[in-house]
Amino acid sequence: MDTGGQLLAVVLLLVSPVFILCGGAISHAQINPLLYDEQLLWVSGAQGEVDTYRIPLLTFTPKGSLLAFAEARKSSSSDVGAKFIALRRSTDKGTTWSPTSFIIDDGAQADGLNLGSVVVDEEVGSVILIYSLCFHHFQCQPSSTMMVESRNDGLSWSAPRNLSIQLGVQSFAPGPGFGIQKHLEPAKGRLVVCGHGTVEGDGVFCILSDDHGRNWYNGAALKSIPFNQRKRQQDFNPDECQPVEMPDGSIIINVRNQNNYHCRCRMVIRSRDGGESLPIEDLYFDYTLVDPAVAAGALLKDEVLFFTNPASEHDRINLTLRWSMTHGKSWENNVLQIWAGSSGYSCMTSLDSGSVEDQKFIFVIYEKGRVLYDETISFAKIHLYGGR
Ligand SMILES: *[C@@H]1O[C@H](CO)[C@@H](O)[C@H](O)[C@H]1NC(C)=O
Ligand SMILES: *[C@@H]1O[C@H](CO)[C@@H](O)[C@H](O)[C@H]1NC(C)=O
Repeated sequence: MDTGGQLLAVVLLLVSPVFILCGGAISHAQINPLLYDEQLLWVSGAQGEVDTYRIPLLTFTPKGSLLAFAEARKSSSSDVGAKFIALRRSTDKGTTWSPTSFIIDDGAQADGLNLGSVVVDEEVGSVILIYSLCFHHFQCQPSSTMMVESRNDGLSWSAPRNLSIQLGVQSFAPGPGFGIQKHLEPAKGRLVVCGHGTVEGDGVFCILSDDHGRNWYNGAALKSIPFNQRKRQQDFNPDECQPVEMPDGSIIINVRNQNNYHCRCRMVIRSRDGGESLPIEDLYFDYTLVDPAVAAGALLKDEVLFFTNPASEHDRINLTLRWSMTHGKSWENNVLQIWAGSSGYSCMTSLDSGSVEDQKFIFVIYEKGRVLYDETISFAKIHLYGGR
C-alpha cells in the first residue's frame, strides 16, 4: 500500500463510526465482508423421512421475516425421486428459526418435485414459490410447473396450482434462487421467474406475470445449441440461473455454463424489456467468475453486485463471496471465502428497509460439507463492513 492509500484507509477508519452513528449512508469503499454468524439449518443423513437436503432458497418476506426453503429428498440424494419442500422461518433476521415444516409433499413419485424460485410481490405482500414436477420425464409424463403462495408471511400456504395449464407442459426448472418483481420500468410490478429446461432442448427461459401471479405466460428464451439434441462437452448449454434487476431497469441473468462453452466460467445475459427477450448481443462470459457448473447466487444491494459460488474450475469447493462496484463489469480483488471445503448451490437475500442496520448485512444460504457438498444446508450472516 502506498502512503496515499494508507492515509485514505486511516481517514475511512476514522470517518466510518461517524457515518454509522449519524445514520447516514455507508460508503461502499468500506466494504470488507465478515462472516458474522453461521448456523446449519438442515443436516442430511437419513433422519425421519428424509435422506438428503438440497437446493436451498432464501428470501425476506415483505414484513421482514426470513424464509429458508430446501428440497427434502426422501430416499436418496438423487435429483429424481419423491421429496418434500422443507421450510424454516425466522422473525429475528436469522438469529432463531422455527422448526422445519414440510409445506409440500409429492407422495411417492418416481420423478417428484424440484425447486425452485421464490418471488416476493411487494405490491400485494405475497410470497410465491414455483417448482416443477416430473422435470426429467423419469417414468412420468408430462412435466408440470407448480405454484404455491403465502399471504400471511410464510405461516401458511395455498394449495398447489398447476401453471402448466397456462404455460404448457414443457420441462421448466425455475432458478434455483429467487425470481424478481420489477421495481423499475419497463414493466414495473411484473413478476419475472427464470430457470432452465426443457429436457434435450435446454436453455434459459423466463415466465412472466403482470397480475401478481394470477396469470403467467412464457417470456424470453436463450436456447441451447444444438437445440433439442443431446449435448457434448463445450456445447452452448445455458442452465440454472439467477436474475437481478439493475438500476437502469434491465435484468441481468447470471447463468450456469453447463457444458463449459468457451470457458469454465459464468455466462451473463441481459434483458432490456422486462424478461420478454434475451438478445444474444447482450451475452458475455465473465472470466473472473470461474465456476465448476453449479447454481450460484447473485444479489444487488445498494448499487453493489454480490456473487457467490464454489470458486473452482473443476470442484464444488471454496464457497466464495465476490462483490462489484461496477454492476459486474469488474470485480474487487478482495474476496471473502465463506467455506474452503465442499460447497454447492447458494442463494442470497438482504433487507432493504432503509435502516442503517439493514444496510450492513447480506444473508447467504448454501450447501456445505466436509466431504460431500450435500451434507448440510448452512445459513450465513455476512456483515459488509467488517463487523463495525
Ligand atoms: C398440469 O396441467 C397439464 C396441462 O393441462 C396437465 O397435462 C398435467 O397433467 C397437470 N399436472 C398436474 C400435476 O396435475
Ligand atoms: C478459492 O477461490 C479464491 C478466489 O477465487 C482463489 O484465489 C483460490 O485459489 C481458490 N481456492 C481453491 C482451493 O480453489
